[in-house]
Amino acid sequence: MNEQTHLSAWRVPKDAFPKRGTHAEQFKFLVNYALLAPSIHNSQPWRFRVTGEALELFADRKRSLRVVDPDGRALAISCGAALFNLRTAMYYFGCVGEARPFPDPRQPDLLARVTLDPSKLHPGGWTELFNAIPVRCTNRGPFEPREAPPALEAALRDAARLEGAWLALFKSARVKKAVALLIAEGDRIQFSNPRFRRELAQWLHSARDKDGVPGYAKGVNELLDFTAPAIAYLVRTFDVGNGVAARDSDLATGSPLLACLGTARDDPLAWLNAGEALQRVLLVATAHGFDASFLNQPIEVPALRPKLGGLSAHKYYPQVLLRIGRGVPAKHTPRRPIEDILIY
Ligand SMILES: Cc1cc2nc3c(=O)[nH]c(=O)nc-3n(C[C@H](O)[C@H](O)[C@H](O)COP(=O)(O)O)c2cc1C
Repeated sequence: MNEQTHLSAWRVPKDAFPKRGTHAEQFKFLVNYALLAPSIHNSQPWRFRVTGEALELFADRKRSLRVVDPDGRALAISCGAALFNLRTAMYYFGCVGEARPFPDPRQPDLLARVTLDPSKLHPGGWTELFNAIPVRCTNRGPFEPREAPPALEAALRDAARLEGAWLALFKSARVKKAVALLIAEGDRIQFSNPRFRRELAQWLHSARDKDGVPGYAKGVNELLDFTAPAIAYLVRTFDVGNGVAARDSDLATGSPLLACLGTARDDPLAWLNAGEALQRVLLVATAHGFDASFLNQPIEVPALRPKLGGLSAHKYYPQVLLRIGRGVPAKHTPRRPIEDILIY
């Protein structure tokens, strides 16, 4: 497989949807959209099993990040984002059905079972969200300072609410500064931990790989892709926390919107829902022509999470911290081929 193949996942031929195919054939096609979801370190920690009339979503714990995500929270959020893409594609192609989270208490890794209801066919639903799936990508560059329109803010809040989550928008310079201080503190704490650096370095990959974060997604010139092992070595070996903290703090205060997405509970079901809400928020931003990227450090460092919650009216429980604005267009990152994630 080469780089081109791993990026070709983004060009799903939507006309190829097997309208008259079996449910199993339709599910297999829909998974092409699920795998375009964002995931922590582009770990893509999901697997799908087509079982006759149902599609099952499993957590792939072999891909979990034990240092930065010891409870599997970010893993479940990533899988929730994939589930939302799947649901969106289902609506778009008219396969209305049901997605039951955690259908079997004896199988905690079985995150959702999706079934179709052939009596309900409404092709063309959720078109705006659907069209945004192959366009969305994380943009880690600086954003223009121009304010976000109030209509976008309302649409983002609605997107989170429709999926059972809340979205707090930090707009004033004072609160943004307070959030930026937490982000910088999170960076310094994380980078001072050699185990964190080692794990991060393991996921800094070449653009030819099918997972992980390639250098170009972090702002490294694409021609320097061959330096990926050297960059991973630097990250693994040196505490660059102060430099990262300064850069992230500038990115945060310079972004038109900082948005914290959260849920009323903090358990695997809430994390899965948070992932669905996250992806809905990201797709709405994309549909409005806006970019987003993640600054999750104050959520990943347990001591900082309540402080971030305290800055929003909701308090419990922050799950994802985003910055939203418009930047120089970013490039898509690779995806694992569908054969790697389908279980038979
Ligand atoms: C739960 C979650 C947490 C993430 N945390 C971070 C983060 O702290 N910093 C960052 O730069 N990207 C973060 N990301 C973004 C991923 O690195 C990104 O989704 C992945 O590399 C795939 O790239 P794409 O979003 O452009 O498709 C996170 C994504 C998810 C779903």
